[in-house]
Amino acid sequence: MSITIRELTPGFVGEVSGIDLTQPLTAAQAAELEAGMDRYAVLVYHNQRFTDDQQKAFSRNFGPLEETAGGNVTKAADRRLDPEMADVSNLGADHKPLARDDRRRLFNLGNQLWHSDSSFRAIPAKYSLLSGRTVVDAGGNTEFADMRAAYDTLDDRTKAEIEDLVCEHSLIYSRGTLGFSDLSEAEQRMFKPVRQRLARVHPATGRKSLYLSSHIGTIIGWPMPEARAFIRDLTEHAVQPRFTYSHKWRQHDFVMWDNRATMHRVRRFDETLIRDMRRTTVAGSTVTVEQLAA
Ligand code: OGA
Ligand code: MN
Repeated sequence: MSITIRELTPGFVGEVSGIDLTQPLTAAQAAELEAGMDRYAVLVYHNQRFTDDQQKAFSRNFGPLEETAGGNVTKAADRRLDPEMADVSNLGADHKPLARDDRRRLFNLGNQLWHSDSSFRAIPAKYSLLSGRTVVDAGGNTEFADMRAAYDTLDDRTKAEIEDLVCEHSLIYSRGTLGFSDLSEAEQRMFKPVRQRLARVHPATGRKSLYLSSHIGTIIGWPMPEARAFIRDLTEHAVQPRFTYSHKWRQHDFVMWDNRATMHRVRRFDETLIRDMRRTTVAGSTVTVEQLAA
């Protein structure tokens, strides 16, 4: 068996076959997949029947895993999965759908807004790897936007304008957009805004991309309404259908994406049904801009 990558969306999404990710990879196989990630930015695989340990082991081929702490309002004691597995399901520890008004569910609805994972951390994520353990038939697609293409198609004036701009990102901002603001003082401290460049350079390919995320609340040095209006405008540009791919999930699909070059969101679905999605996250290695002293 050898790895084959079929292009689903030109230069953006590849569908991989000829490899069983539940088994240990050779260094050459891991390098081939990483090269595929650099060439595309999203890779889709089918029929990968992972256990959590196998998913973690596969993910570690691309770097150390990011811990999920600091990225949600679920208390450690209420977790369904271990701390290295991001639980992006609609389920509680009892494996049943969360109640409509459950605070954890309301917080997690933020995943329906276009974002880049962990842009609210000083060192944001490299890859996210999402396994569809139980998928829903209707709705629940995950959509991706190519932020390199979004950057490339900006006019020169806008490129020059954003070159050195720095944004503040926080879960407080993205959740605030949805009217979710009931955060404890400890949560507000945990979600303290961080700084990210608006135009970033990919460390492996050297390609530039627009680093947008619903976690953005302002641009440093700008009046907030002007910053938000501009970010909204750039986001509208970036998520035009010509830059996006919508993934309709099949059972045991596995999708990995490069957060340094993409945004994504999940579409709504009937949340009385079980949608069991489990994510591992490969940590990034550097800040995009210097942070303020703590
Ligand atoms: C994620 C996320 C997408 C989904 O895993 O990072 O935003 O389809 N979820 O649940
Ligand atoms: Mn996400």
